[in-house]
Amino acid sequence: MKYQNILVEKDAAIATITINRPTKLNALNRVTIKELNQAFSKLEKDKNILAIILTGSSEKAFVAGADISEFADFSVKEGKKLAAKGQEILFDFVENLSTPVIAAINGFALGGGLELAMACHFRVASDNAKMGLPEVSLGVIPGYGGTQRLPQLVGKGRAMEMIMTANMIDAQRALDYGLVNHVVSQNGLLEFCQKLAGKISNNSSVAIGYAIKAINGCFNNSVNGFSTEINAFGKCFGTADFKEGTTAFMEKRKAHFPGK
Ligand code: COA
Repeated sequence: MKYQNILVEKDAAIATITINRPTKLNALNRVTIKELNQAFSKLEKDKNILAIILTGSSEKAFVAGADISEFADFSVKEGKKLAAKGQEILFDFVENLSTPVIAAINGFALGGGLELAMACHFRVASDNAKMGLPEVSLGVIPGYGGTQRLPQLVGKGRAMEMIMTANMIDAQRALDYGLVNHVVSQNGLLEFCQKLAGKISNNSSVAIGYAIKAINGCFNNSVNGFSTEINAFGKCFGTADFKEGTTAFMEKRKAHFPGK
């Protein structure tokens, strides 16, 4: 499928989605959000793809935010709809994807860009990356889940400070805060993420999908995470992956998971 604002590449079991509007620092406009939804949906259905890397084109930005030019004259009703729709089709969608998504933050991740990175299952940053939620400097608040996911990742006090000051933090501080898991050189960023994705792809994709669901249950007030875990754990026992994983262990060989 041909996209206008994103590139999708597949290499064996790993797919890389690159947000590709470098002249606008990869800002998320309506088309880009829709295309990302389509690409993630397709990749989740592709049983050969076991991990996805999300990054931005050029050395400057992952994503410099939602596209300000698109919402500058919105009404109250339109603003609410923008946030609700975006959360539904992209941010919550990515968070709940059963295929693991790694954000490779290659530069500015601001506003909707950081919110998108936070919706991914975990994050790796290049050493030149800068992250922040500067929305209050525009007279608005983060609307793509930022007020919820930032405190989950860095704690309430740090989230309050980052959002109230609108300050950017550098990659090292993001590492100290636990906002990113690793900081690597810009040149080595994709290779590092590919290695992590490769490691993930050796494991049971079915079990990983259940693990994502159970971990997300910890942050979802409408479900009991422990019950989610018990149910997901039980379901694993009915999978071919579980049979293969346990049999391979007993036969002292490497498991080859069928992914079902
Ligand atoms: N929405 C729309 N366009 C954006 C954008 C955004 N969030 N962020 C950057 N752009 C556009 C700029 O308007 C500019 O376009 P132009 O060349 O047609 O004028 C282009 O991307 C390059 O950005 P520029 O501001 O010239 O780069 P810079 O190096 O001087 O500054 C930033 C980089 C990231 C500090 C600056 O672009 C910025 O503050 N962006 C907005 C960040 C933000 O508030 N995000 C939250 C949105 S809710």
